[in-house]
Amino acid sequence: MTSRRTLLAILGAAHLFGSHVAAAPLDSGLDICLPFGIEVGLFIDLFDPPQVTEVVPCFVTSTTAIPSAGTYVVPAGISTGTVTAQGATDLCVTSVTTTTTTYPCSTATSFPTTWWDPCKSSSTSGTCRWTPPATSAPTTVTRTVTSTVTQSDTSAPTTVTDTVTSTVTQSATSCPVTTSTPTPTLSCDPYGYLIQYASLYQVDLTTGTATEVASAIGANTSINAIGYNTLDNYLYGYQASTNTILQISADGTAVTVSADAPPSGSYIGDIDSNGHYWVGLGAASSWAEIDLAPGSPTYGKILANGTATSPGYGVADWVYIPSAGEYLYAVGSNTSPSETALLRFDMSTHEWETVANYGALGVVGVGAVYGMNNGTVYASENGNGQIWQFPISGETPFMVSQGPPSGNNDGARCVLNLLA
Ligand SMILES: *[C@@H]1O[C@H](CO)[C@@H](O)[C@H](O)[C@H]1NC(C)=O
Ligand SMILES: *[C@@H]1O[C@H](CO)[C@@H](O)[C@H](O)[C@H]1NC(C)=O
Ligand SMILES: *[C@@H]1O[C@H](CO)[C@@H](O)[C@H](O)[C@H]1NC(C)=O
Repeated sequence: MTSRRTLLAILGAAHLFGSHVAAAPLDSGLDICLPFGIEVGLFIDLFDPPQVTEVVPCFVTSTTAIPSAGTYVVPAGISTGTVTAQGATDLCVTSVTTTTTTYPCSTATSFPTTWWDPCKSSSTSGTCRWTPPATSAPTTVTRTVTSTVTQSDTSAPTTVTDTVTSTVTQSATSCPVTTSTPTPTLSCDPYGYLIQYASLYQVDLTTGTATEVASAIGANTSINAIGYNTLDNYLYGYQASTNTILQISADGTAVTVSADAPPSGSYIGDIDSNGHYWVGLGAASSWAEIDLAPGSPTYGKILANGTATSPGYGVADWVYIPSAGEYLYAVGSNTSPSETALLRFDMSTHEWETVANYGALGVVGVGAVYGMNNGTVYASENGNGQIWQFPISGETPFMVSQGPPSGNNDGARCVLNLLA
């Protein structure tokens, strides 16, 4: 019977097309905090199957009498499809409608997703990955869409059935929520923070006493270019071996930030009032301004970068002091002849300026500087550990305390804490 074969062929083709799996949407309430040490930007293994939405083609869910040749609009609810009776037994379907069903995914799948991370107070992205457990017993779920057309002027009715069958391994659940305790923030305390190799120290700038907070941070390789973000009270630093930015908490736990990489080998860093991380390789090399403002639409992106022209001194750290304008201050030095200078990098023109040259001050090789918003740069001398105060007005600097000698280091502090 030609008409019946035609009808079945149309529905069969439409079924093949429609059985492609469409989207696997996440729950709108997804709230993921990744556990300590797990890298954002990789895979999130789902504990339950994600929901799969499938568009199923169907003819129409009603019965229609076809008395004679002509075109008839199918009267029932969901369809705008039409049925044409071209003769007593010559029946064809001229359109196919669709219906949507949602069910738990039964096969391994992965899909990219972006969510708001309340631990970081920023949006981040990763890939959700679902692998059906090998051990669970499969359950068969059958969804049937039946379309029936009855011809009243012939003895035999024409019935077409469109059936979609899928096998699932679990009952329907939503995309899961995984949570962990957020890493503890710092508290804008009076201390300076010194990173040396992969260990973090808290330094009392007035007495010079240093206390170890944590060791073997991140990949337990050298961390440098640390800065204090006053917008979220975390320290951020650059770990060269992984070429990534680390967010370091009060107890030294570190989380890799999903962000553009700083210039390779960076060792100077600080974060301005807008949460922008200024990071680079000293006075005469690459620098970058990277957005680390929580919730920013450009979070993690390089906002600007370039190569600076040397001011003529070696520089190993810089610091942003909000009350002193849009500059990054540094203590530069040369050994032959021995001279020390207060420098600043203009954050708009991206050029260095010399604020004051103090001549032979005996402070060479400043690896860590700490800013204070009353206009002071505290500078730690690598070789002898002395901590000096440099007023940004250019007045004569002086030694404040005896701190720990260190190398392979960098310093940061909450610039808004005024000690007093
Ligand atoms: C971290 O690295 C240092 C230097 O290589 C090593 O001495 C130390 O044992 C490491 N610590 C851990 C916990 O792996
Ligand atoms: C600026 O950043 C882009 C993207 O990471 C990089 O390709 C380029 O080399 C950088 N330029 C400088 C001067 O560092
Ligand atoms: C800033 O405060 C510190 C700590 O109280 C003090 O030693 C320093 O002299 C002050 N600097 C200026 C420029 O007022």
